[in-house]
Amino acid sequence: MALVTLNELFAADYAGAICGFDFVNLETVKAIMAGAEELGTPVILMVTEGGVKYAGLDYIAALGKVAAEKGKVPVALHLDHCTDFDLIIQAIKAGFTSVMIDASHLPFAENLKLTKEVVRVAHAAGVSVEAELGRIGGKEDNIQVKTAEAFMTDPEEAVEFVTATKVDCLAVAVGPSHGIYKGEPNLNLALLKRLKSVLDIPLVLHGGSGLPDAVVKEVVAIGVRKFNVWTELAVAHTDTIRAVLKEEPTLYDPRSLFKPTVEAMKAVVKSKILLTQA
Ligand code: 13P
Repeated sequence: MALVTLNELFAADYAGAICGFDFVNLETVKAIMAGAEELGTPVILMVTEGGVKYAGLDYIAALGKVAAEKGKVPVALHLDHCTDFDLIIQAIKAGFTSVMIDASHLPFAENLKLTKEVVRVAHAAGVSVEAELGRIGGKEDNIQVKTAEAFMTDPEEAVEFVTATKVDCLAVAVGPSHGIYKGEPNLNLALLKRLKSVLDIPLVLHGGSGLPDAVVKEVVAIGVRKFNVWTELAVAHTDTIRAVLKEEPTLYDPRSLFKPTVEAMKAVVKSKILLTQA
């Protein structure tokens, strides 16, 4: 199948949230595709700036494009948490069908201005845009937001931001943070409901790893349409490698080392997709 945009995925008849998974290598992308195909659901393949730095834009875009072409489910290729306007342009040229401009570290007016400019160029190329308002805490690759720097999305600002930028979907900060939780995740569901009631574009929840199942079901019931996951995939990948090497310390063929990681990550992918279906 050809790649589709995020807007096309949102417009399709799918109940619940569509999962977006970050990928960094062949094994991650294979696991994501295998999980989505076994369940017959659309999926969003995401790449962070760190992922681009690690693999190279051409290599990582090619992986995403081949996965979609060979895939049996609709796939969007999405640039996740990008702070760099030039990289967004390069990603669009490389075939990404969706981009996230993360200017949440900037003051409101500057975030709005930069997001608006990204929307202008991306929409001209038929590419969807996600932006972030408020600041999601935790560590996501090259972006580290300390608890004291994180703040929640303000509904009034969100309405002004969405109206002015014409962004296609919005990542809201309502409590979850990226990475592994130290304590119980504390979500402001009342704020999420309020944001849902005042905004008429799809809402995105970041920091999907480690949230209790009941909370995930609740945010989907409130109306989150895109649910982002990375850390649990990374943990499954690396825990599997540790286990394989413990079992067979003299192993040297990387294929024997990496193949079991695909199965482990696929299990995470399937569990998240099942959890976020309405
Ligand atoms: P986690 O790493 O907490 O799953 O968050 C992923 C994410 O939000 C990607 O944008």
